[in-house]
Amino acid sequence: MAEVVAAICTSHVPAVGVAIDQGRQAEPKWAPYFEKIEALRAYVEELQPDVCVIAYNDHASAFSLQLIPTFLIGVAAEFPPADEGWGPRPVPTVPGHPELAWHMAESLILDEFDMTIANEMPVDHGLTVPLSVMYGQPPAWPCRVIPLCVNVIQYPPPTGHRCMMLGRAIRRAIDSFPGAERVAVVGTGGMSHQLQGERAGLINIEFDLAYMDHLRDDPEAAAKISHTELMREAGSEGIELVMWQIARGALDPAVHEKLRINHVPTSNTSNGVLVFENV
Ligand SMILES: [Fe+2]
Repeated sequence: MAEVVAAICTSHVPAVGVAIDQGRQAEPKWAPYFEKIEALRAYVEELQPDVCVIAYNDHASAFSLQLIPTFLIGVAAEFPPADEGWGPRPVPTVPGHPELAWHMAESLILDEFDMTIANEMPVDHGLTVPLSVMYGQPPAWPCRVIPLCVNVIQYPPPTGHRCMMLGRAIRRAIDSFPGAERVAVVGTGGMSHQLQGERAGLINIEFDLAYMDHLRDDPEAAAKISHTELMREAGSEGIELVMWQIARGALDPAVHEKLRINHVPTSNTSNGVLVFENV
């Protein structure tokens, strides 16, 4: 049977993608961050997941206010990088896994999660930047990808608790797939940042580090953090952290923390990486 081998959480800062695409990792502004990220790349190279289920949010690239799916799964054979206003990122097309994705769609919907199904969809920096953070600039992505798109753009987003429950349902879906795939469930976004309003530029590293501890040790409690508290403590875009609950939910209650990176700031974001495996 297929198996969940790790939960990988990472910010998906667009400027990180630009720095990679433009070969600026060695510049003084970026070098400290990319030196830290080497540990994640080494971990992923050793782990070699066959599939990454990536929980991310679309930033008005594939969808607009015309259509706002709360939870969506991509079942296509491939997903092109989205044009976010400056042309698509110069990264490989993202290969899908239709067999596992359709199995997950069926399992999740019969498990009472009302997934939207996308047969065709471009993927923006929310999904491609985490791939670049994990793999650098390969000629082709070394894993297949199942996009799991979550609305955290337009109120009301799903609760952290609902995301944790979705993560558990994803685990059941993967566990019941008759294949040998080793799957990493990736939660993206966050950590603290706010892009607009009077508190634009907000970063709360104390909250972020405590959230990492909380997610590791007591995910049930972390999942109960309200939207209001998340936004108060981690800023309006900090609400993306609910997607980390999806990755955490796909593992057992007890986990090993394999890797933790935090770097403040990249762009205007507290950048975090957190990796767990089952005990
Ligand atoms: Fe985002």
